[in-house]
Amino acid sequence: MKTIFVRDYDEMSEKAYEIIKEVIEKKEQPVISMTTGGSPRGLFKLFVEDINNGLDISHTTMMNLDEYMGPKDATYTVRTFMYENLYNVIDSKPKNIFLIDGETQDTDEEITRYKAILGKYPRDVQVIGLGTNGHIGANEPGTPFDSMMFLAQHDESTIQSTMREYGIEREEAPTEMITLGFTEILEAEKVILLVSGKHKAGAVKALLEGEITPDCPATALRNSDNAIVIIDEDAASLLEKDYKNL
Ligand code: F6R
Repeated sequence: MKTIFVRDYDEMSEKAYEIIKEVIEKKEQPVISMTTGGSPRGLFKLFVEDINNGLDISHTTMMNLDEYMGPKDATYTVRTFMYENLYNVIDSKPKNIFLIDGETQDTDEEITRYKAILGKYPRDVQVIGLGTNGHIGANEPGTPFDSMMFLAQHDESTIQSTMREYGIEREEAPTEMITLGFTEILEAEKVILLVSGKHKAGAVKALLEGEITPDCPATALRNSDNAIVIIDEDAASLLEKDYKNL
């Protein structure tokens, strides 16, 4: 796992976007899989700006890491986020857009369908965020490190974060999500973990200085050469070692 320490949220977004842009410019058939929520908003802004200034994405396949179970057009869904922050605000279209169906009545069938897509379109980049409890995707604490795409139940802290991020009440908040497991997350050629803010500092400390354990799901990345973690100063504020000068 490689760590990149940055000043703040904006620099985190820039660094992550640089990696994605290079892949899009260099690869013949780039496949980029995104996450949603507060962490990638800045990265999406940079991406949109570049596309609307002429960055060619006609050869790029876009997909996502997970999807909340609930009505497709709910404010909190990954689908709504992706359309509001990318697909509806760009002048050109990617080659393919793949999303998980969170309205499905048959989660097994939906997982089988999406796994076939993952098999056909190996990801160059998988972007992920970090839960305050250390989750990645919806792999909550306790999820075995060999998890494969599944229907996850959210921890209470995750439900509270979703309520805050999307300004919704408890009754409306999703409690379940179809998510890639650790297995599929780590299959991407590059896994970029975005971490910004004081509220993530405890999880960052567990990620870098704690033991590798399903109690802190993100530690599944620690031994992976594919993983790149971009951490801002607030998120790094509880670290004991000075990683910049090691
Ligand atoms: C959302 C997802 C979650 C978030 C994580 C961090 O699609 O997969 O794992 O990445 O909860 O959320 P933010 O970025 O809102 O702090």
